[in-house]
Amino acid sequence: MTRKTSGQAALEARAAGFREALLGWYRASRRRLPWREEPSAYRTVVSEFMLQQTQVSTVLPYFARWMEALPDFAALARADEATVLKLWEGLGYYSRARNLHRLARAVAGASLPRTAEAWRELPGVGPYTAAAIASIAFGQAEACVDGNVVRILTRLTRDGRAFRDSASASRELAPLAQALVNAADPGDHNQAMMELGATVCLKHRPSCLVCPVAGFCEAGRAGDPEAYPRLAPKPTEQRSVVRVWCESQGRLLLYRNASEARRLAHLHELPSAEQAGLDPARAAQAPLLARRTRGISRFRIEESIHAAEAPSGALAAGLVWVAVADLGSISLSGPHRRWISQQLATRVAAPQGAGRREIGGGSGSP
Ligand code: ADE
Repeated sequence: MTRKTSGQAALEARAAGFREALLGWYRASRRRLPWREEPSAYRTVVSEFMLQQTQVSTVLPYFARWMEALPDFAALARADEATVLKLWEGLGYYSRARNLHRLARAVAGASLPRTAEAWRELPGVGPYTAAAIASIAFGQAEACVDGNVVRILTRLTRDGRAFRDSASASRELAPLAQALVNAADPGDHNQAMMELGATVCLKHRPSCLVCPVAGFCEAGRAGDPEAYPRLAPKPTEQRSVVRVWCESQGRLLLYRNASEARRLAHLHELPSAEQAGLDPARAAQAPLLARRTRGISRFRIEESIHAAEAPSGALAAGLVWVAVADLGSISLSGPHRRWISQQLATRVAAPQGAGRREIGGGSGSP
């Protein structure tokens, strides 16, 4: 841990005024979101899991469907995994759904933990989510620190230190975030910081003219907010995956991920050549149906889908035939559902196997 910068000391000295300006703005201008307007510990936990790496606008319809189907910890604890994954389908990062399910099974029927430290013991709860739940649902004075908060704090203090990555910046800025927390209403304080980061203190072209804490912001005053935070660029790695499209008698060949698969357990996907027991170089010679590129964390992944013959004999582990008519009721990862429906749609439009087509744009989520 490094020493406090002079900008941090100056902001901490004005913490009371900062808190008041931030909270006043939040109370008057916040977005009316379902987990804010009708809060409960359960709704806080579910919303915080869904909001990890996902934008509010994407989460809203999922949150509504989830609450309709699984209104409390007890209902979630009783649900089977297929139901949980189906409700999560398309949100990506499926380990969140499995962890949330495990968390509900751990707390259902017991009294809920109150402190961030105790929440961190539960599956899928990292420091940010623990602080969010403890502050919003239990009034504990714990600061949430994520990329948004790092951006706000480094701009407020014009902190020009170069950080290795977002996690180390969060660690360095945690003491300042904690010093600023409003102990009288830490939940609203944290949500106000999130709201400021999402709607005003944007990464590019921040709206400094309407910022409620512009009077506290050194970078705003200097006119260079976009220079902060200084984060090292993320290294990227190229990957390519050859996938096969194999259809027979109204059924499509899919790969069902094993329950231990970290990211995609139980989700179906178009099989890679290896999963289908084929040599990728040979499979890549077959007619190309589609190609697309997407980013998942530090990987740039180019995927191509090639027509393939149906395998003869017993299927390799994980492979399943799914009737095209049943595709709506199984769990498919988001991009794969899009690719499959686009592929089926081209075939309806051009039944004689109209060659190659570009599909979709990279979404970043699995
Ligand atoms: N991101 C993470 N938690 C959030 C919340 N409670 N409201 C809006 N965005 C968030």
